[in-house]
Amino acid sequence: MSFRLQPAPVSRPNRCQLFGPGSRVVLFEKMASSSADVINLDLEDSVAPSDKDAARKNVIAATHDVNWGGKTLSVRINGLDTPYWYRDVVDLLEHSSERLDQIMIPKVGCAADVYAVDALVTAIETAKGRTKSIAFEVIVESAAGIAHVEEIARSSPRLVAMSLGAADFAASMGMQTTGIGGTQDNYYMLQGDVKHWSDPWHWAQAAIVAACRTHGILPVDGPFGDFSDDAGFRAQAYRSATLGMVGKWAIHPRQIALSNEVFTPSEAAVVEAREILEAMREAKESGEGATVYKGRLVDIASIKQAEVVVRQFEIINGT
Ligand code: COA
Ligand code: MG
Repeated sequence: MSFRLQPAPVSRPNRCQLFGPGSRVVLFEKMASSSADVINLDLEDSVAPSDKDAARKNVIAATHDVNWGGKTLSVRINGLDTPYWYRDVVDLLEHSSERLDQIMIPKVGCAADVYAVDALVTAIETAKGRTKSIAFEVIVESAAGIAHVEEIARSSPRLVAMSLGAADFAASMGMQTTGIGGTQDNYYMLQGDVKHWSDPWHWAQAAIVAACRTHGILPVDGPFGDFSDDAGFRAQAYRSATLGMVGKWAIHPRQIALSNEVFTPSEAAVVEAREILEAMREAKESGEGATVYKGRLVDIASIKQAEVVVRQFEIINGT
């Protein structure tokens, strides 16, 4: 273990982040009564340029008027390459209620992007006497974003979560696909004449998880575009969970239950994790650093692995 210990991420359920356009007010109450842990009201790419001002007003009103329960309430602002983002930040920080938890910054390409938003948010929070400090989440969805992922992960004490945005990422990388996540027909290995499909998103996800875990940030998988493909969503989400991501976006309500299912450790996994912890406690009592559980080795590293599962379960259950 390095002398510098890995910081713990924020302790909150983050299995599903449900998106909805800020221009579709009719969705807000439905989003609030959903089972998503995090709500992302969008001012960016799901809102047409002609609707940007109205969407901003809708979202600010919704921080006052809608009962968001215990959910994390986040608003996705426009990217720093647009003329909209500063107005998003100024109006949100000046006029939204203290119910607003978070701002999501899209298309982050370097740490200075986050610094710029942080400077503006900090000045307005102080000027307006806001009592709650707004958290940040960022989307890595460009070649620059993935190239600078580690400096982005340590860019601001406000930063709590980072998502991979597959569609913009694919476009920025020049990938030959119009799919948003999932299997890509042309990304395969050949063994004789048998095709084995591989995962083109894997390396970017792993890079994000490593940067996030180094700096105590929650790594999150972004959208899966084909919302009629439940099996495809589940497969993508299980891969993300296996790699260390804590949750996934839902761009349609039918994806919420799928995401919650995948990112909630199963009862069997929790039982097994607790049994491993118990086996290791007994081993420690008899002076052993390793023991056998169900015919396989468990040792001190297994304690940490089991604790990840139990901790995730406890966060989700609010214990
Ligand atoms: N949140 C909550 N409820 C939603 C919803 C959402 N994001 N999207 C749709 N619904 C509701 C609909 O209002 C409808 O409710 P009803 O049964 O009471 O009438 C029900 O779920 C079924 O919706 P459906 O008709 O299948 O979808 P749609 O055609 O209304 O909308 C999308 C489809 C994809 C346009 C819509 O889901 C959407 O805008 N998703 C978010 C897009 C987004 O934010 N993108 C940015 C991040 S990538
Ligand atoms: Mg995007």
